[in-house]
Amino acid sequence: MTSILETFLVSVKKEVIYLIKVGLIGLGKTGKYIAEGVLQQNNMKIVAAICSPNSEKKGMNLGELLSNSKTDVKITTSDELQATIFKTKPDVVVDFSNPQAAIKNAIILSKMKVNVVIGTTGFSKEHIEKLKNIPYKFKNGIVYAPNITLGVNVLMLLSNIAATILNNYDFQIVEMHYKNKKDSPSGTALKLYDEIEHGLQISGVKNKPIPINSVRAGGIVGKHSVLIIGEHDKIEISHESFSKKAFSLGALNAVNYIYKKSGYYEMKDVLNLKKILREYIDSLDNEAVSSQI
Ligand SMILES: NC(=O)c1ccc[n+]([C@@H]2O[C@H](COP(=O)([O-])OP(=O)(O)OC[C@H]3O[C@@H](n4cnc5c(N)ncnc54)[C@H](OP(=O)(O)O)[C@@H]3O)[C@@H](O)[C@H]2O)c1
Repeated sequence: MTSILETFLVSVKKEVIYLIKVGLIGLGKTGKYIAEGVLQQNNMKIVAAICSPNSEKKGMNLGELLSNSKTDVKITTSDELQATIFKTKPDVVVDFSNPQAAIKNAIILSKMKVNVVIGTTGFSKEHIEKLKNIPYKFKNGIVYAPNITLGVNVLMLLSNIAATILNNYDFQIVEMHYKNKKDSPSGTALKLYDEIEHGLQISGVKNKPIPINSVRAGGIVGKHSVLIIGEHDKIEISHESFSKKAFSLGALNAVNYIYKKSGYYEMKDVLNLKKILREYIDSLDNEAVSSQI
């Protein structure tokens, strides 16, 4: 029979194993949603919250900023990032700031062996290459997630498959976001471009133009459409975010995934879409076999 002491030790061990200490960089429109999301998790705890060097949020209590009494973490600035990390020792830091800050932060965090989820978008191709190499140099873990929602990742997968099958059709991407979104085209649109180009290449088509059309207007949270247009018919695949809560769910998934891992990953790894697709194809094969018996 298990003694009370053993039960206590097991529960303490569970606490120690599963409590992920999370740091947040970028406390803007999206960062605040991520913070709310983390505060609702039993296996996560916010230990650091970081704003820009000249932000009016400096020194504030995170709970005050969110109107959420569950946290009393004091907000520090990114120019004291190293000292904050040294003091608070997060397992994973989630960055929703801006590309210049995020690349600088990723290097500092990686040198300190902290894992990072980067939701920030607007990186140059060179910066993305740099991000891919950082975890191999410093042996930490990075999830680069310009497309953090499950829905958008399914859109990517479907577009890739469609490009492989409909390689003689024309592909166009249309993305719409709120008026003041800084980067254009969006990071997700650029990733969609890569997925379509990859799908076309698999089927032997190279250098086909894939125009991206960006609309910046009003308060649109985010919409991405892939138009696949042939001579006689058209397919349109769209994803639209209604609420920034979807970003928070994606970020929480990524935090759980990268905890204690090393290497470079993207959301398709976090969501395990390849495995799901493989199982789906296997199930089709099995159906075909059983119908022949
Ligand atoms: N991956 C996705 O699916 C996804 C979804 C939504 C947004 N995003 C991306 O996430 C980023 C943020 O988006 P948002 O809508 O939240 O923008 P936002 O409201 O402008 O928030 C950005 C925040 O970062 C802070 N910041 C700026 N420089 C900083 C630094 N050096 N260190 C720490 N914080 C700094 C800003 O200033 P203060 O600290 O002065 O307040 C601001 O609060 C953008 O790149 C956006 O495209 C990605």
